[in-house]
Amino acid sequence: MRTTHSAPADTDAALPAQRGRPSRPPAGEDPSLKAAYRLCRRTTRQHDPAISLLVQLMPAALRPAGWALWAAATVLDDLADRQDVEPAARAARVAAWTEALQHDLAAGTSRDPVRYALVDTALRWGLDLSGLREAMDSTREDTRGRHFADWASWRAWCSEGIAPWVDQVRHLSDRAGAPMTLRLDRQQDYRRFIHGAQLTDVLTDLGADLSQGDLLLPQEALNAFPGAEDDLRHGNWSPAAAALVRELTALARHWVTRPSMTTGMHPGAAVVLDTAACLMRAQLDAVDAAGRALLTCAPRPSLAARTRILAPARIRSALAWSLTPLTVPPPRRPAVTVPGPGPEAERTGLRPPPPHSGGARPPRIAADRMPTHVAVIMDGNGRWAGQRGLPRPEGHRAGNAAAREMVYGALEIGLRHLTLYAFSTENWKRDTEEITTILEAIRHDLDEGPIRDLDVRQRWLGRPDGLPEELVQALLREERRTSHRTGLTLTVCINYGGRGEITQTAAALARAARTGDLDPDLISEDDFARHLPHPDMPDVDLLWRTGNGQRTSNFLPWHATYAELYFTPGYWPDMDRRALWQAVSAYSRRQRRHGGATP
Ligand code: IPE
Ligand code: IPE
Ligand code: MG
Repeated sequence: MRTTHSAPADTDAALPAQRGRPSRPPAGEDPSLKAAYRLCRRTTRQHDPAISLLVQLMPAALRPAGWALWAAATVLDDLADRQDVEPAARAARVAAWTEALQHDLAAGTSRDPVRYALVDTALRWGLDLSGLREAMDSTREDTRGRHFADWASWRAWCSEGIAPWVDQVRHLSDRAGAPMTLRLDRQQDYRRFIHGAQLTDVLTDLGADLSQGDLLLPQEALNAFPGAEDDLRHGNWSPAAAALVRELTALARHWVTRPSMTTGMHPGAAVVLDTAACLMRAQLDAVDAAGRALLTCAPRPSLAARTRILAPARIRSALAWSLTPLTVPPPRRPAVTVPGPGPEAERTGLRPPPPHSGGARPPRIAADRMPTHVAVIMDGNGRWAGQRGLPRPEGHRAGNAAAREMVYGALEIGLRHLTLYAFSTENWKRDTEEITTILEAIRHDLDEGPIRDLDVRQRWLGRPDGLPEELVQALLREERRTSHRTGLTLTVCINYGGRGEITQTAAALARAARTGDLDPDLISEDDFARHLPHPDMPDVDLLWRTGNGQRTSNFLPWHATYAELYFTPGYWPDMDRRALWQAVSAYSRRQRRHGGATP
C-alpha cells in the first residue's frame, strides 16, 4: 500500500466545519489510549490529507477507527520506504511490526501508540484483522522494489496491498449498522475503483518514486509509449512521457468513476465513497495540470477545488448519518492479563447455547435411536416473506435466525453432524438483489458470530466460483478457527450442487488413476468417498425439508441415498429448535432396514 507523501498538514482547517459532534478520540478512555488516537489523527492528516478529509465525512463515533487504520497503514508504508535504511532492514522492520501486532491483539493492548489504537479499534468493533496480514506482507515485499510486467500483475499488487485496508473500513461501517454492502454485480466496479485509487496515488508520487529509482507502472503501459520510460527515468519531460501520463490519468479517471458502485449502500457510506471519487478526479486534474512539475513535486488540487467538493459532501453526509442511529460499542475495559492464543484459551472460552425463548427443553432420545447426521433443506423463505407482504430478502434474514436456532437445538440434543443447505448452484438464477442478501446475511453471521463461541466445528461445502471473495475468506477463516472443536460439526452448503460434487469427485478419481495412485478396474465406493470434498462426512440419516416441497433439489446425492426423508409444510423462518427435535423424534421411531428383511 502506498500513501501520498509530502502533503501540507491540516489542509482541512480552512474548509467549512462540519455540523454536529466534533471528532474526538473516544470518550471515557484511559489517557494513553486517547493520546494514541490523537497521534493517529495527526499522522493521517500529515501524510494523507485527502484520507483525513474523508474520515471527517464519517460519523464522529467511527472516525477514531478510521484514523487508527490509516495511521497503521502509513506507519508500515514509512517503515518500508525509509531510504536511509537498507532494504533488508526495512523488510525486517515491517515484519517485526506485523508480528508485534499479532501479539498485541492477543494481549488486548500495546506499548506502541498506533498499534494500541488499532488493537482497541479491532477489539471494540469486533474487526478481524487477519485480512490485513496479506497487505502487510505485500508492504514488506515492496522493500525489494517492484517491477510489473503487465496490468494483471499490477492489479494483483493493488488487490493484496490496498484492498484489505479499504475492506476494514467497510466492515467497520457494517458493524456500526450503516452497511457499505456491495451488491454482487458491483464487485467488479469496486475492484476497479481500488485500482483507480492506486493509480492516482502512483501518478501523484511519480517524481518522488523516480528519485528513488522506482517506477510503479506496468511495463505493458510503458511500452505503449516508446521512449517514455527512459525519459522519465532521466528526468526528461518529453512528449512521450507527457502522453503516457495523460493516457494514465484518463484511465484512472475512468476507473474511479463508478456511479452505480454505491447503489444499495447506506447513504452516508455512499457519500464517503462518492466524495473519494471526486477528490481523486480533482487530484488527477492536478496531475494533468502539473506538466513537467510532476517530476519534482507531488501536485495537489487547489483549495477552491477541494472546497467545491467537500462543502456539499459535508452537508450531505451529516444529513445522511443523522437518519441512522448507529450501533456504537462501549469502551473496553483495560486488559489486565496477556492470554496466549491457543486451544486451551479457546476451549475455556466456549459457552453453552442460549436456552429456548419459551423455555422448551430437549427431548430424551435413546443413544441408539439418535441420528448421527441430519441434513436440512431450508425452504420457504420467499413464501414466508410474501405471506407478510415483505420483500423476499426479508425472508432470508428471518431464515438465518431459524438456522441459528437449529444449531442451538442440535447442540442441546447432542447431535454430531448438522448440514444446512443455504445456497444451491441453481439459486444463481435468482435476482442479484436477492442473491446478495442471502450471501451477505451468511457473511454477516460468520463475522458477527452468534455461534462463534459455541462448541461448533464449522465447515463449508460448495464451490468458490462466483462467491464474493470476502465470504470465501470468512468461511475458510471460520473453518480454520474452529477445526479443533469436538462438539457439533456444522456443514453449511453454499454454492453447492450434488451433481457438481459428484463430477468433481469423479475428476479427482481420474487424476488419481492417471498418476497411478488408483487402478480404475478396482475403484470402490470407499475410494469414491475418500475423494469427496469432505471425506469424513457421514451418510445422512435424516433429510428434512421444510416449505411443503417433496424433492431433494440436488442436495447430497452421495450421502443421502439411504436417508430417512421427512417433509414438513411450514416455511423455514417459522421454525425453531422444537421443529428439529420433532424431526429427530420422528426419526427415532422409524425402522431402518438398509435392504435387509423386515424383522
Ligand atoms: C429457501 O427459501 C432459501 C434458498 C433457496 C436460498 P426460498 O427462497 O427458496 O423460498 P421459497 O421456496 O421461494 O418460498
Ligand atoms: C433448495 O431450495 C435450495 C436451498 C434450500 C438452498 P430451492 O427453493 O432452490 O429449491 P427448488 O428450486 O424449489 O427445488
Ligand atoms: Mg424454495
